[in-house]
Amino acid sequence: MMSFCFVCYVCLLIHSPRREIRPLLIADPVHSSIEKFASSLPFCTLARIRTMGSVRNSHSGENTGDDDGNIPLLTPYRMGQFQLSHRIVLAPLTRCRSYGHVPQPHAALYYSQRATCGGFLITEATGVSDTAQGFPHTPGIWTNEQVEAWKPIVKAVHDKGAIFFVQIWHTGRVSHTAYQPGGHPPFSSTNKKVNGKCLMPSGTEYSDYSQPRALKTEEIPHVVDDFRLAARNAIAAGFDGVEIHGAHGYLLDQFMKDEVNDRTDQYGGSLENRCRFPLEVVEAVAAEIGPERVGVRLSPFGSHSDSSDSNPEALGVYMANALNKYNILYAHYIEPRVKTNTTTSETNESLASARNAFKGTFLVAGAHTRQSGIQVIESGGADLVVYGRLFLANPDLPKRFRLNAPLNKYVRETFYTQDPVKGYTDYPFLDEGKDDGAGEKGGKHVRCPFLEEDEQA
Ligand SMILES: Cc1cc2nc3c(=O)[nH]c(=O)nc-3n(C[C@H](O)[C@H](O)[C@H](O)COP(=O)(O)O)c2cc1C
Repeated sequence: MMSFCFVCYVCLLIHSPRREIRPLLIADPVHSSIEKFASSLPFCTLARIRTMGSVRNSHSGENTGDDDGNIPLLTPYRMGQFQLSHRIVLAPLTRCRSYGHVPQPHAALYYSQRATCGGFLITEATGVSDTAQGFPHTPGIWTNEQVEAWKPIVKAVHDKGAIFFVQIWHTGRVSHTAYQPGGHPPFSSTNKKVNGKCLMPSGTEYSDYSQPRALKTEEIPHVVDDFRLAARNAIAAGFDGVEIHGAHGYLLDQFMKDEVNDRTDQYGGSLENRCRFPLEVVEAVAAEIGPERVGVRLSPFGSHSDSSDSNPEALGVYMANALNKYNILYAHYIEPRVKTNTTTSETNESLASARNAFKGTFLVAGAHTRQSGIQVIESGGADLVVYGRLFLANPDLPKRFRLNAPLNKYVRETFYTQDPVKGYTDYPFLDEGKDDGAGEKGGKHVRCPFLEEDEQA
């Protein structure tokens, strides 16, 4: 701790996302007054120095240089109680390597490879119940076994000083009877079937999606409760929070979008009615774990799995305003140019109205490059930029962006294969054998504010 002044050190601890540190400070009256004093300082330590640089540069509009202070993506950002050291977020990425829907030890390596001190990671979509699955070997978080299996994975990410949220989902009709308990039909807002093919539990064969059944009105509270319990389990597993998956044509999106939702009860018809169930999920999850630990992902402009809306802009803004009422931590929007998971097309549509409406942290995802990420931060279009395929293939993406280094190419063929190594943990680092260097600058090691003295590498 030699090179730190005491106040800076205290400030770092206060900004620490690690719950085991924070309550100690808040409970103690001496520390409380120190906290008050330190919190009144705009920024502390290295984060403060870097932020001052970025503010200056963002005002002058010069942000494309190679120095950290000039790269908006590499500037710190405070997201609620979480002090982030940069704005490059790992997207939720289904990888189909959680055998029997139980997370596996190889996931600890995969996620920790992508973790940086003060970085923010979101897990792959994770089922809230035994009816939630629709892909082979996707993880769940509804059993004790799954919660226990997540713990070492979360620990591995926290050991690197990163913030880790789990994305909780239900696939709804994007499923097959083979994934459903008792071989029952999957459920949805509708009984209309999805076109296309479902990857079967074998991981190699495809079949048509199954005919879904529309949820009865009185069943909906049970599904809301599944999300609530999953969120509770997430905290038990050690996650810092949850992201509710309301995007990409899965269950919550199937209620929001008027192409799918053909209900005549209070969950169908008007925009307000179609958003009712997703918002009940948000309310229940926020009440369970605290709104400051909740994010929501939305793709109003998307048309994944035949799930599109006749007025996506209105849907995006309606949800942004509605989410404000719950005071949640962040909203995570998919760029309008992304129509399905990975297909993009140029469009004049924009997230600006949702961005303006939402009061919390705003994340954007979808075909972002280093340059477009810089631009969206610089223009105020988002607070954080979420990277999927580039982060999948470049475990040290923040370092590569900092150095403007070449990127590994992703291998689409191994996105959803079940090998615990190939296409998963074997993408090379820039400097093989070394960890990601987002915490390094000019060859000098930068201390991680979230780690204890004896944990510093
Ligand atoms: C292999 C793969 C798996 C994905 N899994 C999920 C998922 O589990 N949850 C989700 O919300 N989006 C998922 N997506 C979408 C990504 O999170 C991201 O929005 C998309 O890839 C576009 O971002 P990119 O252009 O940076 O890759 C997946 C995408 C890919 C390529």
